[in-house]
Amino acid sequence: PLVAVLKGGPSAEREVSLSSGRECAAALRTEGFRVEEIDCGPDLATRLSEMKPDVVFNALHGRFGEDGCVQGLLEWLQIPYTHSGVLASATAMDKQRSKTVFREAGLPVLDSRIVSAELAQREHAMLPPYVVKPNNEGSSVGVYLVHEAANGPPQLAPTMPSQVMVEQFAPGRELTTAVLGTRALTVTDIYATGWYDYDAKYKPGGSRHVVPADVPEEVFEACLDYAVRAHRALGCRGLSRSDFRWDESRGLDGLILLETNTQPGMTPTSLAPEQAAHKGIGFGELCRWILEDASC
Ligand code: DAL
Ligand code: MG
Repeated sequence: PLVAVLKGGPSAEREVSLSSGRECAAALRTEGFRVEEIDCGPDLATRLSEMKPDVVFNALHGRFGEDGCVQGLLEWLQIPYTHSGVLASATAMDKQRSKTVFREAGLPVLDSRIVSAELAQREHAMLPPYVVKPNNEGSSVGVYLVHEAANGPPQLAPTMPSQVMVEQFAPGRELTTAVLGTRALTVTDIYATGWYDYDAKYKPGGSRHVVPADVPEEVFEACLDYAVRAHRALGCRGLSRSDFRWDESRGLDGLILLETNTQPGMTPTSLAPEQAAHKGIGFGELCRWILEDASC
């Protein structure tokens, strides 16, 4: 079959996606597939109609690629594609709405609300410490932490959307669990020297991952359980990755689900491929599994 790997696109995570796409395309070629890569732009529909791929491997991140938009186009063109479908993608990408789904599934989430960026800059939108972030971006793009000692609200970059999410800040360790199909892989403990931001995520050596995480068994098991329940509640397909914060001073009560990513990074520093490798699933095998799971 002819495989089209979709990468790039116009989102803030364009560079991350170019890296994910490059890695996945190379791995699929090594697995014996005929692969063409598409750096996605407004002519995507035309290019797909000309190329006529049998299946699409979606390596896009962020807006247009992770939020149901490209999934809708592929449904319309009747080309099977990898990862989650339209509704799961759109819901997961909307951080505020996805919490409604998580709460309904009995999963612990942080209090948050949507306010205008204008208000978020004029006054404290909630009691510090809190975080201001775009409601629909990934890779920590545009995330502001407002400390308890902060004198005033943050000055946001002009690129911030007009509506932003304000979320209570919970201190603690960063844990993550990927789900492949119906099974959770493992738990990773992430140590960044400071905030686990864009640089810490993608610069080699920017953060240290401990797989499997050195946490009490009940916390480890809860991460696996919550990640599968989040994946199911959203209606995800293929690979997803759920991110947690854990305040160890509060035991199991200190474990909070931050978000579920329906297009987890597939770069050399990314977490899901590392978890798969830990479970004996090499990168090529992982890409093949995801591709063979494609549908529309
Ligand atoms: N948003 C990035 C790609 C991730 O979740 O891995
Ligand atoms: Mg994310």
